[in-house]
Amino acid sequence: MECFILTGASHGIGEAIGKKLISANHHLICVSRKKNEALISLARSEKQGIVDYFEFDLNQVTEIDNLMRNIFENLSSRISALYLINNAAIHFNQAIEVTEPDSIARLMNINLVAPMMLTSSFIKYSKPLNIEKRILNVSSGSSFNLTPGGSCYSTSKSGLETFTKSIGMEQSDVKIMSVRPGMVNTEMHADTLNKKDLKSPEYAADRILTFLFERFEHGKNVKAW
Ligand SMILES: NC(=O)c1ccc[n+]([C@@H]2O[C@H](COP(=O)([O-])OP(=O)(O)OC[C@H]3O[C@@H](n4cnc5c(N)ncnc54)[C@H](OP(=O)(O)O)[C@@H]3O)[C@@H](O)[C@H]2O)c1
Repeated sequence: MECFILTGASHGIGEAIGKKLISANHHLICVSRKKNEALISLARSEKQGIVDYFEFDLNQVTEIDNLMRNIFENLSSRISALYLINNAAIHFNQAIEVTEPDSIARLMNINLVAPMMLTSSFIKYSKPLNIEKRILNVSSGSSFNLTPGGSCYSTSKSGLETFTKSIGMEQSDVKIMSVRPGMVNTEMHADTLNKKDLKSPEYAADRILTFLFERFEHGKNVKAW
């Protein structure tokens, strides 16, 4: 059985990735604040694999290690590969001087500190498992395409990419990479008027999973399309 820990599975790209990962020999472990009942029902109706859901706020960064310990204690004993997909993120467009301190801290926690903590716990708790172990971080072209108002989001994503490269140098047991989707039609782009420029979440999920399974490059940050 292959096991996937997926953050941000309640909607958008994460939900599309979750749907594509439902399969007979997959154990899918989802993390987001709100449970995705549709995803759970889909797995039940198709009698495919196992889906576990953890309703968890990734802003609670000091609780992440407990969450991961709990996840690892309940892993199936017959795992052939283990994956962590750090997909959850938030976005806002605002000049830094009018952004509340809490909002700055929250964005950096969810988009950057949480993936760092999840990575740390993943490497620590998976050490005894002599299987393929991969981490895929969902980044963004905003890591280097900067816009006024986008400082927090861009800083979080460029931090995520620097973290990916650093862990790529540090680790050989667990493999890590990040992938940058282009613009996708999700709640993050609810205000975008020209929807025809946006790809569907399903398209983004296909591209991301292609990198996870077939085009994985340890320590690299790449465009998804
Ligand atoms: N959409 C785009 O055009 C685009 C482009 C480039 C990169 N990306 C990246 O792609 C990824 C997915 O984006 P998306 O467009 O699918 O976003 P989305 O539709 O807004 O979904 C975000 C997901 O993150 C979860 N999340 C947000 N805050 C959370 C928290 N505090 N704790 C736990 N989970 C939380 C949400 O779940 P809950 O609300 O239930 O917690 C949701 O499942 C992100 O990393 C984003 O930066 C998106």
